[in-house]
Amino acid sequence: MMDWTDRHCRYLHRLLSREALLYTEMVTSPALVRGGALHLLAFNADEHPLALQLGGSDPVELAAAAELGRDAGYDEINLNCGCPSDRVQSGTFGAVLMKDAALVADCVTAMRDAVDVDVTVKCRIGVDDQDPETVLPDFLARIADAGCERVTIHARKAWLKGLSPKENRDVPPLDYDLVLRMRDRFPALHLSVNGGITSLDQAEAFLAAGLDGVMIGRSAYHDPATILCGADQRIYGTQAACLDAEQAVLAMLPYIEDHLAQGGKLAQVTRHMLGLFQGRPGARAWRRILSEGAHRKDAGPALVLEALAAVTEGARNVG
Ligand SMILES: Cc1cc2nc3c(=O)[nH]c(=O)nc-3n(C[C@H](O)[C@H](O)[C@H](O)COP(=O)(O)O)c2cc1C
Repeated sequence: MMDWTDRHCRYLHRLLSREALLYTEMVTSPALVRGGALHLLAFNADEHPLALQLGGSDPVELAAAAELGRDAGYDEINLNCGCPSDRVQSGTFGAVLMKDAALVADCVTAMRDAVDVDVTVKCRIGVDDQDPETVLPDFLARIADAGCERVTIHARKAWLKGLSPKENRDVPPLDYDLVLRMRDRFPALHLSVNGGITSLDQAEAFLAAGLDGVMIGRSAYHDPATILCGADQRIYGTQAACLDAEQAVLAMLPYIEDHLAQGGKLAQVTRHMLGLFQGRPGARAWRRILSEGAHRKDAGPALVLEALAAVTEGARNVG
């Protein structure tokens, strides 16, 4: 999620779930191929399985960007056909691509020809006054013909004019039924649903209804422990116990020390940790201590431990 997630966030999320597939925020193919912004591809080896999401609409350039992603070690290259921001529309990529399924198919073909890792697509159910009932199956048929085997569908339209990117994530109504109906139309496609999913109960219900995957964005960011800690056992059926929020904080300390040693700032990492104790006693003190202190010049692991002590104290007071 652009401006929210980054490699530090993914490192934390990977501590909470060994199995969940993690995605980068959208990285544009012009930035990589023309701008040479290869630093955008950097990640920690512990983050696997990890997908690189690309934004773009030029098949040749996307193929080159996919090669850069493959060389960097990503497990999957995903094409963004869902982002409605102005910035993205001006470059003809993101949700506006829902209007040109043939071009998306060309992009998929070019990327698949260039790399041997999975090439996948994330899309909307339509944009503007398109009729999702016809647009979505046509879009899926074309990209499936081009060899795309996995698609994540954000189950709402995007309005390219008149709604802000934020409104485009909440205002157009969700149509989960349409996504579920695609299950029968495209039995060979690996289909994941996205949009408005806030619990593992909901995720399990979609899987029970026949979908292959569930993508969770904002809830996983705001409340990572609730969403990710149970995912390995409940969704992936693994037996291994995952780290809980406290254990994840302790496991972040060496990572934080490394980051600081390389000249990084504490807040760059801890901003992703603020939601770790969401809904638990001490959560407010945790957030306050980190938000107020992490920007200080000498802030380091000691501040994180101080904040963690406040959580423990909060739990003791309740108990
Ligand atoms: C701040 C922010 C940035 C986002 N950036 C991206 C992005 O880079 N690529 C993408 O596919 N979706 C992006 N999204 C959309 C989410 O991936 C997701 O489709 C949307 O929020 C609906 O799912 P949710 O209700 O689980 O959050 C972003 C969402 C937010 C809140």
